[in-house]
Amino acid sequence: MNLPRALPWLDERRSALLAEIGVPAWWQPRALLPRPAGEGDVGAPIGTTVRVAPTPHAPRTPPPDASASAHPTPAPTGCPQAARADFAPVPLPLRDPTPRCEPAPDTDLATLDWPELEAAIHACQRCGLAACRQRAVPGVGDRRPTWLIVGEAPGEEEDRQGEPFVGRAGWLLDRMLAALDLQRGHGVYIANVLKCRPPRNRNPEPDEIARCAPYLRCQIALLQPRIVLALGRFAAQTLLAEGGCLPPEEAARVPLGRLRGRVFQARLGELTLPVVVSYHPAYLLRNPVDKGKAWADLCLAAETLASADGAAPGAPTA
Ligand code: URA
Repeated sequence: MNLPRALPWLDERRSALLAEIGVPAWWQPRALLPRPAGEGDVGAPIGTTVRVAPTPHAPRTPPPDASASAHPTPAPTGCPQAARADFAPVPLPLRDPTPRCEPAPDTDLATLDWPELEAAIHACQRCGLAACRQRAVPGVGDRRPTWLIVGEAPGEEEDRQGEPFVGRAGWLLDRMLAALDLQRGHGVYIANVLKCRPPRNRNPEPDEIARCAPYLRCQIALLQPRIVLALGRFAAQTLLAEGGCLPPEEAARVPLGRLRGRVFQARLGELTLPVVVSYHPAYLLRNPVDKGKAWADLCLAAETLASADGAAPGAPTA
């Protein structure tokens, strides 16, 4: 197939992947482009984009299933504490060589290791969702990841299989990750705010989120990711409120579109982690016009890592 000649970072393979899922891959942050020899700075302002002609390929459609579960955003309001990030390198935390999960004292979870945490999730009766689940869905992937990706809650297929993002939304997520040379299990861990499926994929209730939050807290403490990608309104609200980036009431009001396109520094347990917010893949399946923005968010996250590492632009970050 004849792909349009893309810029070097957006090579033929990546262009093909993006074309397959219908992402208009015009967004290519400069910081990820190869630099001329001798040029030292990696950074370029967010929003500096290089446009690549849209591909002529018809996007492939994802496999059908019924598990889509992203939700519309509420009415706009201000977001004064979340300044648009300049492209200063973000200092990333050093990893604790022997991580343990020490949940906040307001929970009754003791210090847990992975088997204990997963057993606790599978046996959980903290809220009414326990009664409707087929399987709890703790999370999946590399337990020493660079990336932690947080979604909303299991859908129908996830509830059946016990793994997050295995339905249509997962199909799209996997392909967007592949365009960054990422895949679940290799430098990436995927979890949800809620570990059990809400009936008929309804929105999570605040009380359910509060009761489930200690599990995500534990996961973050054990995983020690270097960057967090929050997919959708509920993941963004939970992580930004928990991380002290926004007061909870404000996090609940600000529309997702106002939270994306910037890098938050969230205090999550003992770690201060960069958090990038993006659209939920299920929302993107319904609103493909926003796929380009979601791709830009992924690039922003990759760029944040690359610039913190001083890595060669375009180098794998996982
Ligand atoms: N939507 C989510 O938020 N998480 C999943 O695991 C599946 C769909």
